[in-house]
Amino acid sequence: MKLKLFFSSVFIFILLVTSAQNKIVVNTDAGKEKISKHIYGHFSEHLGRCIYGGYWVGEDSGIPNTNGIRNDVVDALVEMGIPNLRWPGGCFADEYHWMDGIGPRDERPTMINTHWGGVTEDNSFGTHEFMELCRQLDAEPVVNGNLGSGTVQEMSQWVEYLNSDNISPMTDLRKANGRDEAWGVTYWNLGNENWGCGGNMTAEYYANEMRRYSTYTKNYGDNRLYRIACGPNSDDYHWMETLMKDGNPGRSFQGISLHYYTVTHNWSKKGSATDFDESDYFLTMSKTLFMDELLRKHINIMDRYDPQNRVGLLVDEWGSWHDVEPGTNPGFLYQQNTLRDALVASVNLDLFNKYARRVKMANIAQTVNVLQAMILTKDDEMVKTPSYYVFKMYKVHQNGTLLPSEVETEGYEYNNNSIPAISTSASRSEDGKIHLTISNLNPNKQVNITCELRGMENATFERGEIITAGELNAYNDFGMEEEVPMKSFNDVKVKGNQLSVTLPSKSIVMLELN
Ligand code: AHR
Repeated sequence: MKLKLFFSSVFIFILLVTSAQNKIVVNTDAGKEKISKHIYGHFSEHLGRCIYGGYWVGEDSGIPNTNGIRNDVVDALVEMGIPNLRWPGGCFADEYHWMDGIGPRDERPTMINTHWGGVTEDNSFGTHEFMELCRQLDAEPVVNGNLGSGTVQEMSQWVEYLNSDNISPMTDLRKANGRDEAWGVTYWNLGNENWGCGGNMTAEYYANEMRRYSTYTKNYGDNRLYRIACGPNSDDYHWMETLMKDGNPGRSFQGISLHYYTVTHNWSKKGSATDFDESDYFLTMSKTLFMDELLRKHINIMDRYDPQNRVGLLVDEWGSWHDVEPGTNPGFLYQQNTLRDALVASVNLDLFNKYARRVKMANIAQTVNVLQAMILTKDDEMVKTPSYYVFKMYKVHQNGTLLPSEVETEGYEYNNNSIPAISTSASRSEDGKIHLTISNLNPNKQVNITCELRGMENATFERGEIITAGELNAYNDFGMEEEVPMKSFNDVKVKGNQLSVTLPSKSIVMLELN
């Protein structure tokens, strides 16, 4: 009897210790920052099978399409919630001449896509097709101008073509190509990676060039351009400092970009998308968590030069970059997408939410068939990746009010190293509901979490969703039942404003509360 009592006390003690380690306090009455819906944005480049085959199949294709754009992909992205789409690159943007992509398709000139496989680009997908895609997606267009190899006049005329309603040579040309009204594009990138593929410039040189290009990208009518300066590569703090000091922030540019990819090993041997072990996984997650330090340090610099928080930080390329799938064109960057990638997505989205005061947009690379894609296509087939489900799950945070949270988490230990086991975000949506997303990064152990909804007396659990699988390298494939679906989740107990939830190992959960 005594022994039984001893064991049950030990059991209760272990239980208390375990649950005490993972505690989230959500300050439901303290939110003031809005999570911009544009944090959940996307990026599509003329690269591999992203545009061609991914979206664009042409009007005569046997694949069901509307005005040449495949219906299955559009339907899936609309269901997921796609607030914006950045185009046409990437490195491609700084060698793209937009006038090659307008007018009758059979008269458009071709070019070589020097960055991505050296293939011939026939320009059949251009400005009008992109704007039609955005219309179908109900997504805000983000157009990346060519500062690297184009001219100021060319960029200036593109803005006029898209946005002017006056009588002018550019609006006449647009009308002749079948579009009477201005589209009114707001988001405008002044070059891409101009420290690298966009011209190999120094920060000082780019700051001057950007100011010049910015001067001639005009506001037409009521439309106010949100100009995005090319920002740093990863931890190039000198680039950020120079642009904020010399780039005329708030006037020449309203936002500045940041690019950071999660590469498990190194750029020459990144590692397989599907064939990896726990040590690779631990490395991937550690590298992805570096985004926290990057955001904090870049934002510190921005705060010094822009204390009024007028300039947004736009992480307009991010995501995991693995080796291409065996047998595919190395220039096409086609990779599979596993539960590991889903966890990369949830962790980064949590970080963008955390820094919502400054982070005003983010664009994962690249929507269809390239890098950490939402969707993979093969002829007329389509697959929704695990990352797709994360975006679908997280759309509850779009335009929500960020609820500041305090998190106590156990570590996920591997080989004497440790990272936090839990990543989380909390927001209140416009209809008053509270949404909590939590990821358990530990692939070996479930976590018990208690959560206090401070500021509320009683909470009601409305619904939950979960993304998980038996293995970290599980993925969804053509013609197969999904290995990583999103399912409903109810393993939650609520008492007053206290919640307890058990997250299975390697899982992502969303809880909706009222
Ligand atoms: O997303 C692929 C490439 O990565 C983009 O073209 C470029 O901007 C970055 O280096």
